Amino acid sequence: MTSSAFNNGKPTALITGASGGIGLELARVFAREGHNLVLVARSAEKLEAVAAELSAKHGIQTLALSSDLAAPAAPQQVYDQVSARNIAVEVLVNNAGIGNYGPFHENDVETDLTVARLNMIALTHLTRLFLPGMVQRKRGRILNVASTAAFLPGPLMAVYYASKHYVLALSEALAEELANTGVSVSTLCPGPTRTAFQDRAAMQESKLIQSGMMEVTTVAEAGYRGLMAGQRVIVPGIFNQITAFLPRLLPRRLVTRMVMQAQGRVGH
Ligand SMILES: NC(=O)c1ccc[n+]([C@@H]2O[C@H](COP(=O)([O-])OP(=O)(O)OC[C@H]3O[C@@H](n4cnc5c(N)ncnc54)[C@H](OP(=O)(O)O)[C@@H]3O)[C@@H](O)[C@H]2O)c1
Repeated sequence: MTSSAFNNGKPTALITGASGGIGLELARVFAREGHNLVLVARSAEKLEAVAAELSAKHGIQTLALSSDLAAPAAPQQVYDQVSARNIAVEVLVNNAGIGNYGPFHENDVETDLTVARLNMIALTHLTRLFLPGMVQRKRGRILNVASTAAFLPGPLMAVYYASKHYVLALSEALAEELANTGVSVSTLCPGPTRTAFQDRAAMQESKLIQSGMMEVTTVAEAGYRGLMAGQRVIVPGIFNQITAFLPRLLPRRLVTRMVMQAQGRVGH
């Protein structure tokens, strides 16, 4: 743990999945823009290193919380640890998420269930815990990280794509509920982005990742800008915007077959 209380008057952002990839890059952007940071992920050492680096570089205060958010009790524990330090979270970034590649009936069931628990349940629980304080203060922003997968059925990554539909639908509904409360909810929907995600999701053989990936810095900057502008749905890059829009014009069955082909194993 890096510090015990924040007292420098800067707003605080809590970012899940901040030990690498998009979450780490978002942490860098929030630090640069003058936010204190609560960083959450499982890798305690990586989080401590990021926290130390960013507080030294930007004069912010940081708290590193190691937590496996797929565990049912974890969101409440994170909330309790933050509350015990009287830290008011002004920005909640639900970024931690994983995928699992392969035919649903052959996939390891525990891995698919962990995808569901982390991508949907933990995000929902953290949002529910931190939101009342924001509404009470009439001030706050939530950034939920979905994916362009939120706009498509996803054969060969069925649970992952479905989980991102959930994130988008929940976030859009909350954004509407919270209109005029001073609290905004934004959903970041990146397309394929160069991080550890693909290796961790066992996607090495998927054609999808051969077709080019966006840099993590571009995605994080777009996410931050969109969030601060109060944008409800943020899709970085023109190609991803087309991917998000096109399914509205095409028959659902055709779209699903196209994703199956795009996700197929190289050489098949
Ligand atoms: N990369 C892409 O192509 C892409 C595209 C669209 C959307 N996204 C979304 O972007 C988000 C970030 O993904 P990424 O690409 O940055 O992946 P990443 O590089 O694999 O990072 C994932 C982050 O989530 C954390 N995490 C994983 N399991 C966790 C758990 N059980 N409890 C707490 N933290 C956990 C990881 O830290 P620890 O391992 O230390 O716990 C890491 O910090 C995800 O929601 C993903 O679905 C990614």
